[in-house]
Parts: sequence; C-alpha cells; structure tokens
Amino acid sequence: MIGAMGYEHLLVDVEAPIATVTLNRPRVLNALSPDLIRELTTALSELDADDSVRAVVLTGGPKVFAAGADISDMADRGAVDQLRRDQTGRWAPLAGFSKPLVAAVNGYALGGGCEVVLMCDVVIAGETARLGQPEINLGIIPGAGGTQRWPRTAGKYVAMEAMLTGQPIPAQRAYELGLVNKVVPAEVTVEIAKRVARQIAEKPPLAARMAKEAVLKAFESPLSEGLASERKSFYFLFATEDQKEGMHAFLEKRKGVFKGR
Ligand code: CAA
Repeated sequence: MIGAMGYEHLLVDVEAPIATVTLNRPRVLNALSPDLIRELTTALSELDADDSVRAVVLTGGPKVFAAGADISDMADRGAVDQLRRDQTGRWAPLAGFSKPLVAAVNGYALGGGCEVVLMCDVVIAGETARLGQPEINLGIIPGAGGTQRWPRTAGKYVAMEAMLTGQPIPAQRAYELGLVNKVVPAEVTVEIAKRVARQIAEKPPLAARMAKEAVLKAFESPLSEGLASERKSFYFLFATEDQKEGMHAFLEKRKGVFKGR
C-alpha cells in the first residue's frame, strides 16, 4: 500500500519543527530492501532541504527497528553485481544528513539496522532493544559502516565481540557501553525521542548543524584538524542573526527565538 507521501515502505510524519520517519515493512521485521533504502534516503534528502524541519526522529515503530539488509534480496547475488549496485554506498544521505537525527529503537536493530542507528546522533532505546551485527553468521561482514562506527563508539573489544560472535547486545548493556543515550519503557520510546527532537529543534539550527558536524569530525580527523574546523565554525556562527538573538535574549532575560539565519 502506498502511504500519504507516496512511500510504500515508510511513514513520514512532519509536525514542524520535527519530522518522524517510520520504517514500515513489519512482515519482514523492516528488512532493508533496496526499495526501502531508496525511499528512506529520498525522504531524508527532502527533509534535509525542508527549512520547517529542524530535527528528525527515525524509528521502526513499537516492535522492531530493523533486522538488517534484506537477505532474500542478497542471497544469490555475486560480488560484481553487489559492487555495481553499491547498496551500502547508498546510505550517504543518512550519513551526511545535516540536521540532528534521533533514533527511537525498539526490538531488534541488527546488521544494516544497527548501522543505521550508528549513523544517528542521539539514540533512545526501548527496554526491548537489541543491537547487533550478525553478518558473520551469513558469511559476510557489516557493509554499511559497522566495523568502523562500532569501535569509534564503544571501543575495540566491544566491537570485536559484536562482529565476531554476532550476538546482539540488550538495551541496558548497550547503555552501559555508551551505544545508546537512554533506555526507556518500549511503549514510550518514540514519544521520548520526539521530546528530545523537539528540545533540539528549539535551538538555533545553524549552531545545531555545526555542533553535529564538529562532533562527527572527531571521528574522522586528527585532533589538530578537528580543532581548526571547530574554531572556524565557532567564528562563523558570529555572522548569524541567531547568535545575536541568543546572546541578547540571555542578557535581556528572555527566551531566544531562532530563525536559522
Ligand atoms: N532479511 C529478510 N527477511 C528477514 C530478515 C532479513 N534481514 N530478518 C527477518 N526476516 C523475515 C524472516 O525471514 C521472516 O519471514 P517469513 O515470515 O516470511 O519466514 C520474518 O522476517 C520474521 O522473522 P523470523 O521468523 O526469523 O522472526 P524471529 O522473531 O524468529 O527472529 C530475528 C528474529 C532474530 C531478527 C531473525 O529474523 C534474524 O536473525 N534475522 C536476520 C538478521 C540478520 O542476519 N541481519 C543481518 C542482515 S545482513 C546485513 O544487514 C548486511 C549489511 O550490513 C548491509
């Protein structure tokens, strides 16, 4: 069935200043088929360009986040075919999404599903959440950033155990390891994620964008380069109307109203 915004495998709900994107292939635990990935990256590109949206919640709904790439689509493919389709390369609009992304994770977030979580900026996990990279059981390894983002997020040994055993990590343990921000009852995961997104959406959007960019830079560059980039963004923000508004609002003891300019 095609939803209101023309997506077959997604629900997209814009309640400006936030939007919620729900993966919607429940029969196969939101397995990430090429069509679903195409729809998701298209929706994200549109939301990135929509000035009324300042933060996005990404969820799989109340039962499952996503059980990974669609195995039925991959089982008989060859290496050249896979390389030509470059399914994992298609995640660029998610990895490069400029606005804050809050993941709301209930149930399994496995394989590509877990890698999607690792591309989000804040992760709210329901008590039922289980994060893992079971690719090893299929004779492959993660292909959408898992081998790189796990160690950068939770360290070498946690990453190795996840990749080599394929065992998923339950929510509470994921919290202790710094893989998720908060664990909440599953029935309120999405609501709490929306609350966090609304809180972020009240902030000056250019500052939020640069804060996100600066933190992500820490994953990719030597300290000196990250510091130089942070410094440039810091000075740049003094050219924005929102910086004037933010500082004057503080001095005038009122709440700032930010326009993203
Ligand atoms: N791809 C395709 N179909 C999937 C799927 C997947 N990744 N995960 C689940 N499904 C389907 C099942 O085949 C089943 O379909 P049928 O009802 O038609 O048989 C349906 O979803 C329900 O699944 P189960 O009956 O298996 O449900 P369960 O509760 O017994 O088990 C589970 C849940 C442990 C998540 C199990 O489904 C599972 O192990 N799934 C595969 C997880 C996995 O290996 N993910 C990695 C994929 S590879 C990858 O993601 C590569 C990458 O990095 C890009």
